Amino acid sequence: MNYRETDLQHLWHPYTGIDEFELTDFPIIQSATGVRLLDITGKKYFDGISSWWCVNLGHSHPHIVNSIAQQAVRLQHCITGGMSHTVVIKLSEMLSEIAPGKLNRIYYASDGASGVEAALRIAIQYWWNIGQPEKKNVISLSGAYHGDTLGTVGLGFLQRFHKPIEHVVNRSVQAPAPHCFHCQFSDNCSLQCFNAMEDILREKAGTTAAVIIEPVCQGAAGIRIYPPGYVTRLRELCTELDVLLILDEIAVGFGRTGAMFASDLAEIQADLMIVGKSLTGGYLPMSAVLTTSEVFDSFRSVNSRDRTFYHGHTFSGNPLAAAAAVAALEVFDNEDVLEQSRLPAALLKSAFSEFGAIPGVHRSTALGCMSSLEISAEAGGRDAAARTAAMALDLGLIIRPLGPVIYLWPPLVTGKSDMEEMLGIFSDCLKTCLD
Ligand SMILES: Cc1ncc(COP(=O)(O)O)c(C=O)c1O
Repeated sequence: MNYRETDLQHLWHPYTGIDEFELTDFPIIQSATGVRLLDITGKKYFDGISSWWCVNLGHSHPHIVNSIAQQAVRLQHCITGGMSHTVVIKLSEMLSEIAPGKLNRIYYASDGASGVEAALRIAIQYWWNIGQPEKKNVISLSGAYHGDTLGTVGLGFLQRFHKPIEHVVNRSVQAPAPHCFHCQFSDNCSLQCFNAMEDILREKAGTTAAVIIEPVCQGAAGIRIYPPGYVTRLRELCTELDVLLILDEIAVGFGRTGAMFASDLAEIQADLMIVGKSLTGGYLPMSAVLTTSEVFDSFRSVNSRDRTFYHGHTFSGNPLAAAAAVAALEVFDNEDVLEQSRLPAALLKSAFSEFGAIPGVHRSTALGCMSSLEISAEAGGRDAAARTAAMALDLGLIIRPLGPVIYLWPPLVTGKSDMEEMLGIFSDCLKTCLD
């Protein structure tokens, strides 16, 4: 088969400009192990973005692969509406045990966006359940990204991407996001950026069901890492004003920040926490909304008032995905992945601090296994970032720029020599493209 020709005849690639793509010699991957993908010509690529931020444990881990294979033989699908199955019960117990605080009720969806949609509906219906339907709005942060369904786009509306559907999107109120790369305040951070959120929330609390944020790092906005203290302050304010706090940990959960969850860094518990991506180690699509007994119990019907959550997905709690998630959590534990991740994290931190001194690099930052830098407009910004990524791909490192930002988001299990090699390619490409 001529894969390239057949692809160009039939596939529609997400977030990919058609004409530009057709001119590129894009990789066609046929297998992957550890931190590398292999294309049909035999060329290897480092997975510098953990395949869109989900393959935290590397590719083809035998324990996860075996768990999926064995589960496929036993039970490949079974609904969770009105019945249950063994693997999803086991997974739910495991998630409750590792979740911050008392998030012990778990609702399963299919992917990140559908998890966020479920969390929004739970939050809004919670207030209706307890007789406060006027609390129905959601506040998000500017630059937020919570998915690509119509509801989630409303939370993170971006002119550049969403103009064609602007007339049908119900946009949430957005508070200005913390943005350390372009802080308007001072280098001596005392979280002045939180004041804008506080003003909005105090004004609108009476009609607000929930605030939703990506804790500690706004991913798609450009890997904007910000202090956990912001999340802690938001928790305090939401509690004071009786507003639910939804933390979207889809990208940052499961060890990405150096802690199991970003909530742990902020030392708080959300009212609803959404996980996805690396929940299954990135092996199968699944997301989950973790919440408290208080929220869950409000959905019990009382005095013939039906408060059932009429929201569901065919594959909610799918056994194959659940088996992958159970195995991924076992790998986390058995192989002490958090501890393993300290080495790539330290190498990223030191390298990105050096990159920050390169003329043309506006800012550079790293936390856990997330690191990013922004190329200044004078040094070519977005174009220089695109050139850097294209050159890195040629040299066998997959990175995808976000506007003028380039970043590394490697699997947490990346070993020393692989991390050094990735950083070497990244550095060479960056320096060449800034010259
Ligand atoms: C923070 C966050 N929320 C939600 C999503 C949407 O997840 P999915 O692409 O699985 O729908 C993403 C995806 O990148 C994300 O980073």
